[in-house]
Amino acid sequence: MLIAPPTMAIERTLSILKPDALQSAVAGKILSKFEEAGLKPVAMKMLHLTQQEAEGFYAVHRERPFFKSLCAYMTSGPVIVQVLEGENAVAKNREVMGATNPANAAEGTIRKLFAKSIEANSVHGSDSTENARMEIAYFFAQTDLVRYEWTGRK
Ligand code: CMP
Repeated sequence: MLIAPPTMAIERTLSILKPDALQSAVAGKILSKFEEAGLKPVAMKMLHLTQQEAEGFYAVHRERPFFKSLCAYMTSGPVIVQVLEGENAVAKNREVMGATNPANAAEGTIRKLFAKSIEANSVHGSDSTENARMEIAYFFAQTDLVRYEWTGRK
């Protein structure tokens, strides 16, 4: 009997380059990290979040002690929001980002290389496919997502 090989799921995930990444001019280096990892950008824009947008996006954290500070931080400067697509994109993105606290992030990860603190930690990435769907819809319409041939780095 033939057993089909396991197929990897093509997923989409929401990624945010946070104000510290833009302020310290490492956005290009961070975008390269995603490209090198095989994560294809299919939507991207620069925004300066309003208080209401930041609070809405991080609503799941509203009871956390860091919520107020986090929203103040996320509105302190522009961000880049993007949708990344690829095999197991949610987990892969989290691997490339590294641990939330840069002190615990593995060598070579974005947060280890560039993050300033647990708050100014350079990037956000969805933590599940279900949250990815909600987070993508928070910033993008379906028609904002582009289709194109992408070979990735060979
Ligand atoms: P992010 O992945 O965007 O999700 C929630 C954010 O809250 C997190 O990254 C950090 O920027 C911020 N944050 C600040 N303090 C903490 C903390 N103690 N634990 C987790 N997240 C924190």
